[in-house]
Amino acid sequence: MENGREHWDSRTAFILAAIGSAIGLGNIWRFPYVCYKYGGGAFLIPFLVALFTAGIPLMILEFGLGHKMNAAAPKAFRKTGPRREWLGWFALGVSFIIICYYAVVMGWAANYLKFSFTLEWGNTYTEIKSFYYDRFLGLTEGVNHFGSIKGWIVFALGLCWIAIIASVWEGAKTVSKVVYATVLIPWGILVIFMIRGLTLPGAFEGLRYFLTPNFSALLDIEVWAAAYTQVFFSLSLGFGVMIAYASFLPRKTDIVNNAFIICLADAATAFVGGIVVFSTLGYYAVQEGKAVADVVASGPGLAFVTYPAIINQLPVASQLFGVMFFLMLLTLGIDSAFSLTEAVSAGFLDKWKVSRKTVNFSVAGVAFGIGLLFCTGSGLLWLDIVDHFMNHFGLMIVALLECVVLGYFFDLESIRTYANRNSEVTVGRWWNFLVKVVTPLALLVLIGYEIFDRVKGAYGGYPRWAEFLGGWLVLLLILAAAVLLARKKGSRE
Ligand code: PHE
Repeated sequence: MENGREHWDSRTAFILAAIGSAIGLGNIWRFPYVCYKYGGGAFLIPFLVALFTAGIPLMILEFGLGHKMNAAAPKAFRKTGPRREWLGWFALGVSFIIICYYAVVMGWAANYLKFSFTLEWGNTYTEIKSFYYDRFLGLTEGVNHFGSIKGWIVFALGLCWIAIIASVWEGAKTVSKVVYATVLIPWGILVIFMIRGLTLPGAFEGLRYFLTPNFSALLDIEVWAAAYTQVFFSLSLGFGVMIAYASFLPRKTDIVNNAFIICLADAATAFVGGIVVFSTLGYYAVQEGKAVADVVASGPGLAFVTYPAIINQLPVASQLFGVMFFLMLLTLGIDSAFSLTEAVSAGFLDKWKVSRKTVNFSVAGVAFGIGLLFCTGSGLLWLDIVDHFMNHFGLMIVALLECVVLGYFFDLESIRTYANRNSEVTVGRWWNFLVKVVTPLALLVLIGYEIFDRVKGAYGGYPRWAEFLGGWLVLLLILAAAVLLARKKGSRE
């Protein structure tokens, strides 16, 4: 250990941990759908442009900052200027809220893992749909009807939290070991599903839907906005996660090449995810005698309704594929979940002389408590609202301020030369331009677009008061907490 800070076991462990954080539910239930919806194969162009002009540069920036300052987000920002610590806490606040519901989604997947053994969700699509929404979630008719808390979800949520705490038990040291399983298992399962998917009748019909390019989509700003949003979210940027993870690297380390490897691995995984999802959707459409366009889905609907229906239809070993699918979701999710937990805990440990266990258990306890809200009959609806605001405002605001603060009120060049110092490939001055101009402009457009949309109407057609409580108020509370935490004097200062 140098400087008393724990370190990754190896470079591979760090790369896997960062990849594990980046690949998550977003690669399976978000990317394929977004790609299909916004131009199919043509979407790969804005996606790759976003990856290279914003994703990779920001990854290098977050790695450079975390490593140079040798600290998680709050302290790293404080070291760039005394009044900036709040920004780090704000990022961690967003992470904390996300982990509250991300763990609940994992709890759903854990329940479904059990259901797979008996295909308990029913036989027909209608049955499966009603099983998920009515019996399993007990979904009520609106945000103001909470219904009851579902014990099976709470129980699974508890188990997931135990797994998360165990994974970050001794910080980077434990994570270094766990990530081999949590990255390699889902990758292995994805490959199996890809082979299975491609050998099913109808697979290519599905892929045709997924990838047939619609080049006129490139003229639509919404398509570009979707590409940038997907890249930020998928790479776990703007959450303080990558800053904390880089701070656990040994002093002499590669930054630029690591960033490239991680970003490209995430993109490749998303692409394979698309092949898996659409080849099986193609098969399912053929079985049902429907068009692929009529069976596409994303988000929870894809994972917990459409996919179980597809699994039922598989010619051999349905149960086995069911088990593998939900095991894949769980292992994809858990390293994203513990990366968020670790980022938050590292922030507290940098500032206060408390034990890691105390911090971890406190974070888990409070997040579990808040998570109960998402285990109620209107949990899915609240989850939807909170998730939208965290990703379309929280992440974007952090990333924008990160670029502006470091680009204009700090010596950005010093981060570039720092990142280049021990890197196999180095970045030129074009990187400064991307961080100072291109990425913040993209973010400004995204935020502007979103504000415009919210002025027009409440998100998702929910009542305004619910949008306020689950969206704006949560953001305000995070901001208030961030400012308070930044003003408090820590016992390590
Ligand atoms: N990148 C993850 C995904 O694609 C989500 C995530 C966001 C994980 C933020 C950690 C931090 O699902």
